[in-house]
Amino acid sequence: MDEVEFDKFADEYRAMHAANIRLSGESPEYFAEYKVADIAAELARANAAPRRALDFGAGVGYSVPFFARHLPAARVTCLDVSRKSLEVGAALHGSAAEFTHFDGRTIPYEDGTFDVALASCVFHHIPHDEHVALLAEISRVLDARGRLFVFEHNPLNPLTRYAVNTCEFDEHAELVLAPHMRRRVRDAGFATADVRYRIFFPHALRRLRPLEASMTWLPLGAQYYVVARKS
Ligand SMILES: C[S@@+](CC[C@H](N)C(=O)[O-])C[C@H]1O[C@@H](n2cnc3c(N)ncnc32)[C@H](O)[C@@H]1O
Repeated sequence: MDEVEFDKFADEYRAMHAANIRLSGESPEYFAEYKVADIAAELARANAAPRRALDFGAGVGYSVPFFARHLPAARVTCLDVSRKSLEVGAALHGSAAEFTHFDGRTIPYEDGTFDVALASCVFHHIPHDEHVALLAEISRVLDARGRLFVFEHNPLNPLTRYAVNTCEFDEHAELVLAPHMRRRVRDAGFATADVRYRIFFPHALRRLRPLEASMTWLPLGAQYYVVARKS
């Protein structure tokens, strides 16, 4: 792969993203942090303490400072098809993570290398007929007790649809319904796959956010994640 779609957005990615989500009243860091905090909370409930984390489609490495905050024992590998995004990420985060190029098919690590994998808003940029094979490739590099977290925009939320429809780097995005993503994760061989809906209240209604923990079943959140166990 030579030049890929996100190479041209790498330098401006944060600024474009911040402008696109301004209706939420939150920053890109807010969205990056809640994901890693959720992963840390799920792993703590399962008594799992990851030492190697894969951020699949990491872009410019938004997750890196939040792994350091919420899962400090985990060494993070940021993987992406966009060399330019990886260069920007490496310049921002230095030795806090490893930045590795991916050819779009074979993750360049041995079987069982990672304890946890995150894919944050990546799969809607990948043709749907490639999802199951890529999820199986992520499963290959996970340890037998490893867990996968796939965060995605929820196409059932009207504000999410508006944000995606007005975002330059989402021009070719094809959103995925949560039940479809859960099915693909299971078809890729994961033993379990559960959906949790997230992000119901904008910054202006942040006092209501404690309620969100009891709303993860409600398919109206702006985003969702599928959490899966390899075995
Ligand atoms: C919207 S950005 C999300 C970046 C980051 N995960 C985040 O939360 O900010 C989507 C990323 O997916 C990457 N991507 C697209 N196709 C991919 C593929 N087949 N494998 C891995 N990453 C891919 C893009 O290069 C881009 O960096």
